[in-house]
Amino acid sequence: MTSEPLPIRLGINVDHVATLRNARGGSHPDVVRAAQLAIDSGADNITAHLREDRRHIRDEDIAQLVQLSKPLNMEMAVTPEMLQIALRTKPHANCLVPERREELTTEGGLDVASQVETLKPFVAKLRDAGIRVSLFIDPDPAQIEAAASVDPDAVELHTGTYCEAGLAKDQLGFERELARLVKAAQTAADAGLEVHAGHGLTYGTIGPVAATPEIVELNIGHFLVGEAIFVGLAESVRHMRRQMDRARQAIATPGKVSVDETL
Ligand code: PXP
Repeated sequence: MTSEPLPIRLGINVDHVATLRNARGGSHPDVVRAAQLAIDSGADNITAHLREDRRHIRDEDIAQLVQLSKPLNMEMAVTPEMLQIALRTKPHANCLVPERREELTTEGGLDVASQVETLKPFVAKLRDAGIRVSLFIDPDPAQIEAAASVDPDAVELHTGTYCEAGLAKDQLGFERELARLVKAAQTAADAGLEVHAGHGLTYGTIGPVAATPEIVELNIGHFLVGEAIFVGLAESVRHMRRQMDRARQAIATPGKVSVDETL
């Protein structure tokens, strides 16, 4: 008998609503309005990355997003400035990510293995303040082991390589990357860590990730904000929610549900 899988949460990343707003320097489109619409359309939490260069999300956005009815997952780099802001603003969660000014987006996972001693006190300060902490890492056994030694609540597995293989219609690469992701999710869960995943996910790549029972949260942004241009944000979030839930349900009833892989 298959037991019911844990429910899966959908976190909507609103960074690129802010990218669009900042393109004209005003207040439209409003990030908080978009976050509220995402919540009304099925998001369980809101994710926003306060980058050191403030290229999209700004300090005032974080101060407002933290007041919404659903939890805020604030992504940030491991810096003294970000630690101070997090401790002052108290988001529900912090996801620690690597950051390089010249990158277009977060390009790889955090190299936890090379900075265990820096991360331990950083993570402890956040957790002592009641903030849940996740580390954004590549689905790599060495990084998972290092992450467990730092004692966060969760890891977020980087799905970028898996999604790129999907996008390139590289079937072998896609299967290899999916297997790596699933194995990493199992290893992290066995180490007592909650498992999240995200980066680059689309309607076409969500299914197998949502059907991995150890993964309990997905964070998705760019694709859904892009889709919103065609169908509206409410519909893009709702459609992703349906895809995730159907894939999750299919774990309990294998073979009964097919996932729409139109994109
Ligand atoms: N998770 C993390 C840690 C990220 O840095 C990002 C991108 O900001 C995402 C998830 C969402 O990725 P995407 O915008 O490609 O869906």
